Amino acid sequence: MIQQKGARPTILAIESSCDGTSAAVCADGKILSNHIATQAIHAQYGGVVPELASRAHLQNIVPVVDVALKNARLSLQDMDAIAFTQSPGLIGSLLVGGQFAKSLSLALDKPLIAVNHMQAHVLANLIPEKKPSFPFLCLTVSGGHTQIVLCESPTKLKVIGETIDDAAGEAFDKSAKLLGLPYPGGPLIDKYAKEGNSDRFQFPEPKIPGYNFSFSGLKTAILYFLMNAGKSLIYKEEFAATEEEKKLFIEENLADICASIQHRIITILLNKLKKAAKDLNVKDVCIAGGVSANSGLRKAFTEAGEQNGWNTFIPDFQYCTDNAGMIAITGYYKYLSGEFSELDIPSAARAKW
Ligand code: KG4
Ligand code: ZN
Repeated sequence: MIQQKGARPTILAIESSCDGTSAAVCADGKILSNHIATQAIHAQYGGVVPELASRAHLQNIVPVVDVALKNARLSLQDMDAIAFTQSPGLIGSLLVGGQFAKSLSLALDKPLIAVNHMQAHVLANLIPEKKPSFPFLCLTVSGGHTQIVLCESPTKLKVIGETIDDAAGEAFDKSAKLLGLPYPGGPLIDKYAKEGNSDRFQFPEPKIPGYNFSFSGLKTAILYFLMNAGKSLIYKEEFAATEEEKKLFIEENLADICASIQHRIITILLNKLKKAAKDLNVKDVCIAGGVSANSGLRKAFTEAGEQNGWNTFIPDFQYCTDNAGMIAITGYYKYLSGEFSELDIPSAARAKW
């Protein structure tokens, strides 16, 4: 491995794992620009349509990279390496960013750095001046993953717990769908929850061993709860509501339902994080991923930190949901430890790390 001791690299990073095309520039560990083009087209289908996502990435990638370079006031020739999201994600989407990054690496004769998207979510916590000390714990909560990660160094991370079914973001989005809210429903549940009473409805907390999570039982409980127009969490024939009654119940109680669902998702997440931090005696604790943009989680996490004597870290909003800034910072640390990739490295929908 090439060691880049004392290097102060400037890195162009590309993220295209799902439905956002993003490019960022990072110089000596500082993010100079982070530009994201979102894809509104998926809302009308109630979820991300992979083929449409790949097509939109193809249309967006050149202008997005252009804006990132302009905002950083640098050109392609100023880059020392090209980093890109290699896995996990939608394969068609990953391929667009991957091929583009490889083409740049070849044309500019600059090293290529393949980045794992989940590692990058964790390392988004290394972007600000105030960084966690190693080893730290990170609860990574996104649309596709829910993990507790023990981070011993920027390149030495261990997943110690993860979901056995749905991810936390899916729990938000699927609950929102049951309530008739558009995709992605997570931010909408967050919005309505602010006005609601989180103690009004009691949704179940699963009993899963260790640091693993499960959200599928919660989804089923919400489904039955709505089918019964709030009269029971277990489906009972005698409580079955008509579509009209169900709609009216949701309309009249939306804020309380959202607050109660959000509260349960947050307690499921934080109870496991508290257990891990206590067992491993780790005091620096972070959250990351799209769901870490949730205002209820941010508040409850900060309070848990105060109660348990943790130093807490939450990325800035722009670095919570998918973004190339987090790919750039990961690329920076991989550059420092000489972790470069060959041009034939394949993109992968699933990855172990
Ligand atoms: O990390 P991310 O942008 O993409 C993946 O890697 O999956 O996470 C997207 C997820 C979606 O499920 C979205 O609903 C959720 O993050 N999300 C939120 C909020 N903002 C985004 N969930 C709850 N509250 C929010 N404010
Ligand atoms: Zn993500």
